[in-house]
Amino acid sequence: MAADALLAELEPTAARLLDRHLATSKEWFPHELVPWSRGRDFEAGYEWDPSEVSLPDEVRSSLFVNLLTEDNLPYYFRTIERMFGGDSAWGVWARRWTAEEGRHSIVIRDYLTVTRAIDPVALERARMAQVECGQVPEPETPHDGFAYVALQELATRIAHHNTGKVLEDKAGYEVMKKVASDENRHHLFYRDMVAALLELDPSEMVCAIERQVRTFEMPGTGIVDFEVHAKAIAKAGIYDFAIHHDQILVPVVLRHWGVESLEGLSPEAEEARASLVQRIDRIGRAGRRFAARREESAQQVLAAV
Ligand SMILES: [Fe+2]
Ligand SMILES: [Fe+2]
Repeated sequence: MAADALLAELEPTAARLLDRHLATSKEWFPHELVPWSRGRDFEAGYEWDPSEVSLPDEVRSSLFVNLLTEDNLPYYFRTIERMFGGDSAWGVWARRWTAEEGRHSIVIRDYLTVTRAIDPVALERARMAQVECGQVPEPETPHDGFAYVALQELATRIAHHNTGKVLEDKAGYEVMKKVASDENRHHLFYRDMVAALLELDPSEMVCAIERQVRTFEMPGTGIVDFEVHAKAIAKAGIYDFAIHHDQILVPVVLRHWGVESLEGLSPEAEEARASLVQRIDRIGRAGRRFAARREESAQQVLAAV
């Protein structure tokens, strides 16, 4: 089915999911979550000192990557608008989504500026570098696009929420939790759009899910030293293979989308499904291995204290 015809066919579903999204949205204000009383002016030539706020490096990595991902919104918007177009419920959704995403970088940056949890100069330089490079994934078909954003919104929700937990700061936790709750509602829109596509065009959709799971990466292309930060984030257990497997692939791909029990697939889709299920299993095993290793080295550190 051509992309235009597919989107036209799914437009009533988009309208229904948009209504559900709006009905479950509660207005919130970034300024109410930021602990302004902890802030003060930055003197000329200010140089950040990590000892101002004691935070493990991996938590700073996570804040840095999460905020820069939010800063890359112009390019995510471009992908979404190209995919959906500006008309009908699709356009209304794309603009509403953009408006909601915009407040994520506002609230996280204000929190970080006021608390001085990360170097504001390094952060601004990294934002300039990232936005100037303008890279985001560009899924080739609407099926791939929906599969990618369904996984990505949930991954972002988990990363924000877990970052909030390790901050050990009530105000920071509330900021990240609020952002995570927006990401969750975005995820639900896309998750259920994929479910609708699995009914409408199951073979194509299964192939797209397989491709997107195979190539999935946390958003971060274009971020300075992304690999180093991603490793630190995994090491801290904020986002790793075990989480990816247990909180995304199993509950969404296997349980909610029920890919294992779909019927009437083309031979190509059957093959894609088999390799998808195998891959999920492999990711689960790798996740358990990494988690066990992390546990072991934490025990060693404790034993050495
Ligand atoms: Fe966001
Ligand atoms: Fe989102």
